[in-house]
Amino acid sequence: MKINNKFLLKQYANDRNLEIKHNYLTNQFKDYKNIFKEIEKLILSNEFTLGSPVNIFEKKIKTLLKSKYVISVGSGTDALMLSLKCLGVKEGDEVITTPYTFYATIGAIVTAGAKPIFVDTKEDYNINADEIEKKITKKTKAIMPVHWSGRICEMDKIKKISKKYKLPIVEDACHAILATRKKKLAGNFGDMGCFSLHPLKNLNVWGDGGFILTNNKKYYDKLMLLRNHGLVSRNINKIFGYNSRLDSIQAIVGVHLLKKIKHITENRIKNSHYLDKKLSKNQNLILKERKDFLREVFHLYEFRVKNFLLRDKLVNYLRKNKIDAKIHYPVPMHLQPASKLYGYKNGDFPVTEKIAKSTISLPVHEFINRKQLDKMIKKIEEFYHEN
Ligand SMILES: Cc1ncc(COP(=O)(O)O)c(C=O)c1O
Repeated sequence: MKINNKFLLKQYANDRNLEIKHNYLTNQFKDYKNIFKEIEKLILSNEFTLGSPVNIFEKKIKTLLKSKYVISVGSGTDALMLSLKCLGVKEGDEVITTPYTFYATIGAIVTAGAKPIFVDTKEDYNINADEIEKKITKKTKAIMPVHWSGRICEMDKIKKISKKYKLPIVEDACHAILATRKKKLAGNFGDMGCFSLHPLKNLNVWGDGGFILTNNKKYYDKLMLLRNHGLVSRNINKIFGYNSRLDSIQAIVGVHLLKKIKHITENRIKNSHYLDKKLSKNQNLILKERKDFLREVFHLYEFRVKNFLLRDKLVNYLRKNKIDAKIHYPVPMHLQPASKLYGYKNGDFPVTEKIAKSTISLPVHEFINRKQLDKMIKKIEEFYHEN
C-alpha cells in the first residue's frame, strides 16, 4: 500500500482557494502577539515541562467544566488511551464503542491492548445505547461512548448499564466541550471524560494537546503518574508510565483561547440553528432531530442527503462554489483496513453505513457570518433544482 504522508498539505492547498472554510485559524489567532508575550515569559522562566502555564490551564478547565480533577496530556488520543490504562485495560480485554468515530477512538482502545467491540449508531450518529447490553461479555472492561460532533450520547441508559455490569465509562468528549445533557456537562458522566485540543477542535491549540476530567481521586492520582513516566518524585518511579504531558506552550495558547470559548460555542450554536431552520425546508435532506434537553456544541454541522447517489455530487458542487463541504467520514471504522483482523463486513452496522454514505458537513465556526450561511443554503437549493 502506498502511504501518502502529504495528504494534509494537499488538503491545506485545496482548501486555501475556498471562500467559506472549515479552517479559521488565521483569524482566530490574529492577536497572536499577545500569546508571544506569554511565551517570552515562559522562555525566561524555563518552565517547559509541567510548568505554571499547565497548572493555570488545568485550574481554568476545572472551573469551566465543573470537574473535581483535570489531568492535561499530550493529545485527545492519549487522554483516551491513558484512561483505559488507568482502568487496567490490557491484552485480551474488550471495550465497547461505536464504529462511527474518528480513527483515534479505536486506535486508543487497540494501543491499550484491547479489542474494540462495535455497536451500531442511531440516526443521531451516536452509539445506540439499546444495543450495548447484547455485546457485553466476560472480557468487556469498559464502555467508550463518543459524543459525536458535540451531541451527548444517551448517558442515562449507558450509566444504567455501567452500574448493572460494574463497567466503567470513558467518554470520548473530544468534540463536546461545553455540551450538556439535562444541564450536565460532557466529560462528567463517566469515570473519565477525554478531550482534544487539536487545532480544529472547538477549543484548540497550536499543535496537539488534550485533557482528562475525572471526579475520582484514585483515578486522578494514577493518571498524574501515567502521564509523566510514573514518577512520584525526581528519583522515585512508582509505576511504568508514558510521556504525555501537555506542552507548556500549548497550555499558554489554551489559556488564551479559554477567554473566548463561550463566544466560540454560542456562535457555533447560533449558526447551526440558523442552518437547521433554513435547511429543514429542503425535502431532499435529513437533519438531526434536536432535543430540548441537549445543548449540542456543533464541532461539526452535519446533515444527510436522501438520495445517496447525489451526495458526492453535492459536495463537489459546493466546493466548486468555494464552500468547504466535507464528509466526516465516508468509511466507518469497522470497514477500515486497520479493522480487517476483526472480521467485520459490509452490512454489519446498517445505520452507521447509511450515515457514512449520506452525510455532509458544513463549516459553522465563529467566523462564519449570515451572508455565508445564506450562500450555503442557496447553493444547496440551486443544486437540487438542477438535479
Ligand atoms: C472523536 C475523536 N476522538 C478522539 C480524537 C483524538 O484527538 P487528538 O487528535 O487530540 O489526538 C479526535 C480527534 O480528532 C476525535 O475526533
